[in-house]
Amino acid sequence: MPESNFSGPAVEVNKVSFAYGRQKVLDEFSLEIPGGISFGLLGPNGAGKTTLIRLLVGLLKARAGTILTLGRKPSPRIAHLIGYMPQLPSLYAELSVIQNVEFFARIYQLTDKTERRRRVEEVIKLVDLWEHRRKSAMNLSGGMKQRASLACAIVHNPPLLFLDEPTVGLDPELRVTFWEYFTALTRQGATLIISSHTMDDAAHCDRLAFMRDGRVIALGSPDELRQATGQAKATLEDAFLYFIKHGGVNKNVQ
Ligand SMILES: Nc1ncnc2c1ncn2[C@@H]1O[C@H](COP(=O)(O)OP(=O)(O)O)[C@@H](O)[C@H]1O
Ligand SMILES: [Mg+2]
Repeated sequence: MPESNFSGPAVEVNKVSFAYGRQKVLDEFSLEIPGGISFGLLGPNGAGKTTLIRLLVGLLKARAGTILTLGRKPSPRIAHLIGYMPQLPSLYAELSVIQNVEFFARIYQLTDKTERRRRVEEVIKLVDLWEHRRKSAMNLSGGMKQRASLACAIVHNPPLLFLDEPTVGLDPELRVTFWEYFTALTRQGATLIISSHTMDDAAHCDRLAFMRDGRVIALGSPDELRQATGQAKATLEDAFLYFIKHGGVNKNVQ
Protein backbone atom coordinates (compact mmCIF):
# COMPACT_ATOMS: atom_id res chain seq x y z
CA MET A 1 0.00 0.00 0.00
CA PRO A 2 1.47 3.44 -0.89
CA GLU A 3 2.38 5.32 2.27
CA SER A 4 0.20 8.28 3.10
CA ASN A 5 2.35 9.15 6.17
CA PHE A 6 -0.71 10.56 7.85
CA SER A 7 -2.21 9.43 11.11
CA GLY A 8 -5.06 11.94 11.52
CA PRO A 9 -8.65 11.47 10.35
CA ALA A 10 -8.97 10.03 6.83
CA VAL A 11 -11.55 12.66 5.96
CA GLU A 12 -12.38 16.03 7.49
CA VAL A 13 -15.27 18.01 6.09
CA ASN A 14 -15.85 21.36 7.69
CA LYS A 15 -18.92 23.48 6.95
CA VAL A 16 -19.03 22.60 3.29
CA SER A 17 -21.76 24.03 1.11
CA PHE A 18 -22.51 22.89 -2.39
CA ALA A 19 -25.30 23.58 -4.89
CA TYR A 20 -26.11 22.50 -8.44
CA GLY A 21 -27.18 25.84 -9.85
CA ARG A 22 -29.80 27.04 -7.41
CA GLN A 23 -30.41 23.66 -5.81
CA LYS A 24 -28.59 23.50 -2.51
CA VAL A 25 -27.45 19.96 -1.80
CA LEU A 26 -25.10 20.43 1.14
CA ASP A 27 -25.40 23.34 3.53
CA GLU A 28 -22.59 23.82 6.04
CA PHE A 29 -22.02 20.09 6.08
CA SER A 30 -19.43 18.74 8.55
CA LEU A 31 -18.16 15.20 9.03
CA GLU A 32 -15.02 13.55 10.32
CA ILE A 33 -14.10 9.99 9.36
CA PRO A 34 -11.35 8.19 11.26
CA GLY A 35 -8.76 6.14 9.40
CA GLY A 36 -8.58 2.36 9.15
CA ILE A 37 -12.30 1.60 9.27
CA SER A 38 -15.19 0.96 6.92
CA PHE A 39 -17.51 3.93 7.07
CA GLY A 40 -20.99 3.80 5.55
CA LEU A 41 -22.85 6.77 4.13
CA LEU A 42 -26.40 5.52 4.37
CA GLY A 43 -29.39 7.26 2.96
CA PRO A 44 -32.12 7.19 0.34
CA ASN A 45 -31.68 8.41 -3.24
CA GLY A 46 -31.16 12.14 -3.33
CA ALA A 47 -29.62 12.31 0.17
CA GLY A 48 -26.41 13.78 -1.27
CA LYS A 49 -24.10 10.75 -0.96
CA THR A 50 -22.72 10.89 -4.50
CA THR A 51 -22.29 14.66 -4.32
CA LEU A 52 -20.34 14.30 -1.08
CA ILE A 53 -18.10 11.58 -2.51
CA ARG A 54 -17.45 13.60 -5.66
CA LEU A 55 -16.43 16.55 -3.48
CA LEU A 56 -14.15 14.29 -1.44
CA VAL A 57 -12.34 12.92 -4.47
CA GLY A 58 -12.01 16.40 -5.96
CA LEU A 59 -14.37 16.02 -8.92
CA LEU A 60 -16.62 18.78 -7.60
CA LYS A 61 -15.57 21.93 -5.85
CA ALA A 62 -17.25 23.21 -2.68
CA ARG A 63 -18.68 26.74 -2.71
CA ALA A 64 -17.68 27.21 0.89
CA GLY A 65 -15.97 25.27 3.66
CA THR A 66 -12.94 23.02 3.72
CA ILE A 67 -12.26 19.41 2.85
CA LEU A 68 -9.19 17.41 3.80
CA THR A 69 -8.55 13.84 2.70
CA LEU A 70 -5.53 12.25 4.39
CA GLY A 71 -4.78 15.72 5.71
CA ARG A 72 -4.59 17.30 2.28
CA LYS A 73 -6.89 19.16 -0.07
CA PRO A 74 -8.34 16.85 -2.72
CA SER A 75 -6.20 17.22 -5.84
CA PRO A 76 -4.56 15.09 -8.53
CA ARG A 77 -1.41 15.19 -6.38
CA ILE A 78 -2.89 12.66 -3.99
CA ALA A 79 -4.74 10.61 -6.63
CA HIS A 80 -2.34 7.70 -6.13
CA LEU A 81 -3.46 7.47 -2.49
CA ILE A 82 -7.14 7.40 -3.35
CA GLY A 83 -9.35 4.85 -5.07
CA TYR A 84 -12.77 5.77 -6.43
CA MET A 85 -15.46 3.47 -7.71
CA PRO A 86 -18.17 5.67 -9.22
CA GLN A 87 -21.86 4.84 -8.90
CA LEU A 88 -22.02 4.03 -12.60
CA PRO A 89 -19.05 1.95 -13.71
CA SER A 90 -16.87 4.16 -15.86
CA LEU A 91 -15.13 1.61 -18.03
CA TYR A 92 -13.93 2.10 -21.58
CA ALA A 93 -16.55 0.11 -23.50
CA GLU A 94 -14.26 -1.01 -26.29
CA LEU A 95 -11.34 -1.97 -24.13
CA SER A 96 -11.11 -5.43 -22.59
CA VAL A 97 -11.21 -5.99 -18.86
CA ILE A 98 -7.45 -6.34 -18.70
CA GLN A 99 -6.91 -3.21 -20.83
CA ASN A 100 -9.23 -1.19 -18.59
CA VAL A 101 -7.45 -2.27 -15.41
CA GLU A 102 -4.06 -1.73 -17.06
CA PHE A 103 -5.16 1.78 -18.07
CA PHE A 104 -6.05 2.70 -14.49
CA ALA A 105 -2.82 1.16 -13.22
CA ARG A 106 -0.86 3.50 -15.52
CA ILE A 107 -2.90 6.55 -14.49
CA TYR A 108 -2.18 5.70 -10.88
CA GLN A 109 1.53 5.72 -11.48
CA LEU A 110 2.29 2.00 -11.32
CA THR A 111 5.30 2.62 -13.49
CA ASP A 112 7.27 -0.57 -12.99
CA LYS A 113 6.08 -2.85 -15.79
CA THR A 114 6.61 -6.18 -14.05
CA GLU A 115 4.99 -4.99 -10.84
CA ARG A 116 2.10 -3.47 -12.83
CA ARG A 117 1.45 -6.72 -14.71
CA ARG A 118 1.55 -8.69 -11.47
CA ARG A 119 -0.87 -6.35 -9.74
CA VAL A 120 -3.28 -6.16 -12.73
CA GLU A 121 -3.43 -9.95 -12.80
CA GLU A 122 -3.88 -10.10 -9.04
CA VAL A 123 -6.86 -7.72 -8.89
CA ILE A 124 -8.59 -9.28 -11.90
CA LYS A 125 -8.32 -12.68 -10.22
CA LEU A 126 -9.50 -11.19 -6.98
CA VAL A 127 -12.75 -9.99 -8.56
CA ASP A 128 -13.02 -13.34 -10.32
CA LEU A 129 -12.84 -12.04 -13.88
CA TRP A 130 -9.67 -13.76 -15.04
CA GLU A 131 -11.45 -16.04 -17.48
CA HIS A 132 -13.29 -13.00 -18.91
CA ARG A 133 -10.22 -10.75 -19.03
CA ARG A 134 -10.22 -10.47 -22.82
CA LYS A 135 -13.90 -9.52 -23.12
CA SER A 136 -14.77 -5.94 -24.04
CA ALA A 137 -16.32 -4.02 -21.17
CA MET A 138 -19.47 -3.50 -23.24
CA ASN A 139 -20.01 -7.25 -23.39
CA LEU A 140 -19.92 -7.77 -19.65
CA SER A 141 -23.00 -8.39 -17.50
CA GLY A 142 -23.94 -5.75 -14.90
CA GLY A 143 -22.30 -7.63 -12.03
CA MET A 144 -19.16 -8.21 -14.09
CA LYS A 145 -18.95 -4.50 -14.94
CA GLN A 146 -19.14 -3.72 -11.25
CA ARG A 147 -16.38 -6.18 -10.48
CA ALA A 148 -14.21 -4.74 -13.26
CA SER A 149 -14.88 -1.25 -11.94
CA LEU A 150 -13.82 -2.35 -8.45
CA ALA A 151 -10.62 -3.84 -9.90
CA CYS A 152 -9.84 -0.48 -11.57
CA ALA A 153 -10.42 1.38 -8.28
CA ILE A 154 -8.12 -0.82 -6.19
CA VAL A 155 -5.35 -1.69 -8.64
CA HIS A 156 -2.93 0.79 -7.01
CA ASN A 157 -3.75 -0.51 -3.52
CA PRO A 158 -4.88 2.88 -2.19
CA PRO A 159 -5.02 3.55 1.55
CA LEU A 160 -8.28 5.50 1.10
CA LEU A 161 -11.08 4.09 -1.01
CA PHE A 162 -14.41 5.65 -1.96
CA LEU A 163 -17.02 3.20 -3.19
CA ASP A 164 -20.28 4.73 -4.41
CA GLU A 165 -23.03 2.12 -4.08
CA PRO A 166 -20.66 -0.74 -4.89
CA THR A 167 -23.14 -3.51 -4.12
CA VAL A 168 -26.21 -2.28 -6.03
CA GLY A 169 -27.46 -4.95 -8.39
CA LEU A 170 -25.09 -7.63 -7.14
CA ASP A 171 -26.50 -11.07 -6.47
CA PRO A 172 -26.33 -12.16 -2.82
CA GLU A 173 -23.30 -14.39 -3.35
CA LEU A 174 -21.29 -11.62 -4.97
CA ARG A 175 -22.36 -9.19 -2.27
CA VAL A 176 -20.86 -11.52 0.33
CA THR A 177 -17.65 -11.76 -1.72
CA PHE A 178 -17.40 -7.97 -2.00
CA TRP A 179 -17.85 -7.56 1.74
CA GLU A 180 -15.26 -10.22 2.54
CA TYR A 181 -12.87 -8.30 0.39
CA PHE A 182 -13.77 -4.90 1.90
CA THR A 183 -13.25 -6.30 5.40
CA ALA A 184 -9.87 -7.71 4.38
CA LEU A 185 -8.86 -4.28 3.08
CA THR A 186 -9.67 -2.53 6.34
CA ARG A 187 -7.72 -5.23 8.22
CA GLN A 188 -4.73 -4.26 6.12
CA GLY A 189 -5.18 -0.67 7.32
CA ALA A 190 -7.14 0.88 4.45
CA THR A 191 -10.03 3.28 5.03
CA LEU A 192 -13.19 2.48 3.09
CA ILE A 193 -15.98 4.97 2.59
CA ILE A 194 -18.99 3.23 1.13
CA SER A 195 -22.32 4.71 0.15
CA SER A 196 -25.43 2.61 0.12
CA HIS A 197 -29.16 2.75 0.60
CA THR A 198 -29.45 -0.80 1.91
CA MET A 199 -29.20 -1.66 5.57
CA ASP A 200 -27.64 -4.97 4.59
CA ASP A 201 -24.51 -3.03 3.65
CA ALA A 202 -24.86 -0.80 6.70
CA ALA A 203 -24.61 -3.75 9.05
CA HIS A 204 -21.14 -4.56 7.68
CA CYS A 205 -19.68 -1.11 8.36
CA ASP A 206 -17.69 -0.19 11.47
CA ARG A 207 -19.36 3.21 11.61
CA LEU A 208 -22.25 4.86 9.84
CA ALA A 209 -23.60 8.26 8.98
CA PHE A 210 -27.33 8.21 8.28
CA MET A 211 -27.92 10.90 5.66
CA ARG A 212 -31.06 12.61 4.51
CA ASP A 213 -31.65 15.77 2.51
CA GLY A 214 -27.97 16.65 2.54
CA ARG A 215 -27.62 16.30 6.30
CA VAL A 216 -26.19 13.72 8.67
CA ILE A 217 -29.07 12.77 10.94
CA ALA A 218 -27.19 10.20 13.04
CA LEU A 219 -23.65 8.98 13.50
CA GLY A 220 -22.36 5.87 15.23
CA SER A 221 -21.64 2.16 15.01
CA PRO A 222 -24.51 -0.05 13.80
CA ASP A 223 -25.05 -1.25 17.39
CA GLU A 224 -25.03 2.26 18.83
CA LEU A 225 -27.60 3.39 16.29
CA ARG A 226 -29.85 0.40 16.95
CA GLN A 227 -29.59 0.85 20.72
CA ALA A 228 -30.43 4.54 20.47
CA THR A 229 -34.01 3.56 19.57
CA GLY A 230 -34.47 2.06 23.03
CA GLN A 231 -35.95 -1.11 21.50
CA ALA A 232 -34.03 -4.31 22.10
CA LYS A 233 -34.87 -5.81 18.74
CA ALA A 234 -34.54 -2.71 16.59
CA THR A 235 -33.10 -3.21 13.11
CA LEU A 236 -31.05 -0.58 11.31
CA GLU A 237 -34.17 0.26 9.27
CA ASP A 238 -35.98 0.93 12.56
CA ALA A 239 -33.06 3.08 13.69
CA PHE A 240 -33.13 5.11 10.48
CA LEU A 241 -36.88 5.74 10.84
CA TYR A 242 -36.37 6.58 14.52
CA PHE A 243 -33.87 9.31 13.68
CA ILE A 244 -36.11 10.74 10.98
CA LYS A 245 -39.03 10.86 13.42
CA HIS A 246 -37.12 12.27 16.36
CA GLY A 247 -35.85 15.35 14.62
CA GLY A 248 -33.05 13.30 13.26
CA VAL A 249 -30.17 14.12 15.54
CA ASN A 250 -28.35 11.97 18.06
CA LYS A 251 -25.72 13.07 20.50
CA ASN A 252 -22.86 12.15 18.17
CA VAL A 253 -23.83 14.64 15.50
CA GLN A 254 -22.09 17.98 15.76
N1 LIG B 1 -25.47 16.81 -11.89
C1 LIG B 1 -26.52 17.23 -11.18
N2 LIG B 1 -27.22 18.33 -11.56
C2 LIG B 1 -28.26 18.78 -10.84
N3 LIG B 1 -28.72 18.21 -9.71
C3 LIG B 1 -28.08 17.09 -9.29
C4 LIG B 1 -26.96 16.56 -10.00
N4 LIG B 1 -26.54 15.46 -9.34
C5 LIG B 1 -27.35 15.32 -8.28
N5 LIG B 1 -28.28 16.30 -8.24
C6 LIG B 1 -29.29 16.51 -7.20
O1 LIG B 1 -28.63 16.63 -5.95
C7 LIG B 1 -29.32 15.93 -4.93
C8 LIG B 1 -28.38 14.91 -4.30
O2 LIG B 1 -28.07 13.92 -5.28
P1 LIG B 1 -26.97 12.81 -5.07
O3 LIG B 1 -25.76 13.43 -4.50
O4 LIG B 1 -26.83 12.07 -6.35
O5 LIG B 1 -27.66 11.90 -3.96
P2 LIG B 1 -27.51 10.33 -3.66
O6 LIG B 1 -26.20 9.87 -4.18
O7 LIG B 1 -27.62 10.25 -2.18
O8 LIG B 1 -28.66 9.66 -4.34
C9 LIG B 1 -30.55 15.33 -5.60
O9 LIG B 1 -31.64 16.18 -5.36
C10 LIG B 1 -30.17 15.28 -7.05
O10 LIG B 1 -31.32 15.37 -7.86
MG1 LIG C 1 -25.72 8.36 -5.49
